[in-house]
Amino acid sequence: MVDVIDNRYLSILRTHISDERLAHSLRVAHTASEMAVHFKIDPEHAILAGLLHDIAKQETPVTMTERGIIGSIETRKTYDDFKSIWHQYAGADYVAHYFPDIPQSVLSAIQSHTTGSPNMNLMDQIIYLADAVEPGRTYRSREDLYRLSFENIDLACFGALALSMSTLITSQRTIHPQSVEAYNFYLRKVGAGNAKVVARILHL
Ligand SMILES: [Fe+2]
Ligand SMILES: [Fe+2]
Repeated sequence: MVDVIDNRYLSILRTHISDERLAHSLRVAHTASEMAVHFKIDPEHAILAGLLHDIAKQETPVTMTERGIIGSIETRKTYDDFKSIWHQYAGADYVAHYFPDIPQSVLSAIQSHTTGSPNMNLMDQIIYLADAVEPGRTYRSREDLYRLSFENIDLACFGALALSMSTLITSQRTIHPQSVEAYNFYLRKVGAGNAKVVARILHL
């Protein structure tokens, strides 16, 4: 799979993220490529988005500014309020800065990979789910959510959002408004009856 990736991506990743994070990114890229083939969209773009999605995980607004990447005020505010989510916005800014020829679909998928987003396109959904179900994840319903991702991607997005919100509530953590919007969107899209079935499958 990595054969299709230009080595410049791997070498820049090696200097920006830990070995563990790189291994996770390779698993996300592999899972995303399986889904892309299944849903008949460009697997190379899915691999690229999977590989690069966490590139800003170790950055801060200060290191980004030092690199000459100035995010929006809104993006910097996210760092203060939702540190673990900020890297999705910073990641898209980072990739756009260093790789200006990267397709918009890759940037968009990176930009919503942690929170999800209402009405995601297929590539956004694939990266959001691949990050959640790659085989290195160890939560109880991972395999069920992996299978559901291939069977019905909207139901899987609802399930992943519900799982994520449930975890945040259980651990008394704040929920980013974009996740709430995405959850409401996919709940309305799949309907309450289907949502109930998914909740049972995923042990929610
Ligand atoms: Fe991430
Ligand atoms: Fe990730």
